[in-house]
Amino acid sequence: MIRHDATAPGAVPATVGADETGPRIDGARLWQSLMELAKIGATARGGVNRLALTDLDRLARDQFCRWCVQAGCTITIDRMGNIFARRSGLNNDLAPVMTGSHIDTQPTGGRFDGAYGVMAGLEVIRILNDRGYRTLRPIELAVWTNEEGSRFAPAMIGSGVFAGVFDLAHGLSRADAGGITIGEELKRIGYAGEAVVGHRPVAAFFEAHIEQGPILEAGRKTIGIVRGVQGIRWFEVTVTGQEAHAGPTPMPCRRDALVGAAAMVAAVRAAGLADQPHARATVGMFSISPNSRNVIPGTVCFTVDLRHPEPSTLEQMSARLAAELSRIATENALELLFKEIWYMPPVKFDAECVAAVEHAAKNLGFTSQDIISGAGHDAVYLSRIAPTAMIFVPCKDGISHNETEDASPEDLAAGCAVLLAAMVERANAAQASTKRP
Ligand code: GLV
Ligand code: MN
Ligand code: MN
Repeated sequence: MIRHDATAPGAVPATVGADETGPRIDGARLWQSLMELAKIGATARGGVNRLALTDLDRLARDQFCRWCVQAGCTITIDRMGNIFARRSGLNNDLAPVMTGSHIDTQPTGGRFDGAYGVMAGLEVIRILNDRGYRTLRPIELAVWTNEEGSRFAPAMIGSGVFAGVFDLAHGLSRADAGGITIGEELKRIGYAGEAVVGHRPVAAFFEAHIEQGPILEAGRKTIGIVRGVQGIRWFEVTVTGQEAHAGPTPMPCRRDALVGAAAMVAAVRAAGLADQPHARATVGMFSISPNSRNVIPGTVCFTVDLRHPEPSTLEQMSARLAAELSRIATENALELLFKEIWYMPPVKFDAECVAAVEHAAKNLGFTSQDIISGAGHDAVYLSRIAPTAMIFVPCKDGISHNETEDASPEDLAAGCAVLLAAMVERANAAQASTKRP
């Protein structure tokens, strides 16, 4: 049952979110907040470029905090720069139900990846305020630092430190391509908070997100009930040959790092194709040194992103790829460094939290289907310390990490209504789920 303030105006429906007569959430306000946030770092092609811990990230964080304070929340910032906005409950000794996501983007990112989960959480708080409801437990809305892993590798580092997967010193010392660390940038932009990272109980965590793939759209479903997330392994590869003059050096004498690396990129693709339909394999970053047209490349560095829902298959993919890259290096008289920098094992979300999402979607009359996330999310690390689930909504043509990323206001509102109902259900449960991974 939903509690409400004695002073709350108007009639109080029995449940929030499952109320067929009143507004579920304010979809127009949610959309407007998303569009307002998307102005910070807006690109000419309609996307957003707001890399982690840049001045633009600071402006977006400032905007987020302003909105939360206006909504009556108290703000806490931890030493990893994670931000928590808290709406008090009837019993503030109980652990809060938390939602959240990220507001950093890819360099050619869209308006919804991450921002949706944060603005949906804000809309949950705003609608509870509008209705004068007070949940039994407090509600918290988190913005996690550096989810994208674009400027600083690995991804999800803020939530990872929060969950104890990485220690704080490791998190703060991650550096961008120019050698600037997360710790330095947090200080510079004024978001090196004082709260101890992770010393914050969480009764349950929910994250709303666009799907970032084509499944819901193809199946004409509004809500993805996310059962889990596939595993990810990130590698950094350095191929070393010998720089030499492009003119006088005979073809048989060359140790061309780029020729070897090009064959390796094809091998990465083959590794993905070998384990269909689930495997994914991507080279996303690639640099050639000295990158001069009349010098045979001496060094090439590139990244590999491998994914699969089954840990053993992901392990086999990695081992087979390592062997194949080594074979290519030998064949081309090159040296190879193949270094794993991140492993995120596949995750299964908490049955009770997933059920809360499923019931909410059903009660609200939305079409839904089970789904495994292809992308990593902060919810992955939160699931290590708290019962967790995610809610997906479709995105246009399944495209994300792209400036044209799009989603319909109706679907975004539907996902937010499901978030509201699931959070309220858990926030009014006196007993937190007993599950502790
Ligand atoms: C996070 O955005 C990922 O790479 O899946
Ligand atoms: Mn995201
Ligand atoms: Mn992303």
